Amino acid sequence: MLEEIQQLLGFVPVEVQERIAQKTGINENDIYGVVSFYSYFTMQPRARHRIQICLGTACYVKGGKEIAEKIESTLQIKLGENTPDGRFTYEEARCFGTCGLAPVLVVDGTVYGKVKLEDVDEILSRYE
Ligand code: FES
Repeated sequence: MLEEIQQLLGFVPVEVQERIAQKTGINENDIYGVVSFYSYFTMQPRARHRIQICLGTACYVKGGKEIAEKIESTLQIKLGENTPDGRFTYEEARCFGTCGLAPVLVVDGTVYGKVKLEDVDEILSRYE
């Protein structure tokens, strides 16, 4: 049910979670726990493009934090936010399983590995 709502609306609002809890008898906190745990779900609408910076151990050690700061300063948003123009949603991930490519940045499912600070602007410019 949550997957269908995510696909249909593009997010699973808290109000919808409450409604599901009422109709199914499932504890509201359990539903919230699922929605907040899995990165597939979001409680806010996503922008046209989804940026995921990996801050797992390998990526963090290899400069992921600096890449994250560069993205934040370039787009003027924090993790979990959308750009005001609806262009990007910016999220954090904890390992894509491609640690050999650290630091890793994923945009709309495209994996960018061994990302350097000077690559960030060029990568972002590919997405309108
Ligand atoms: S820690 Fe980033 S891909 Fe594994």
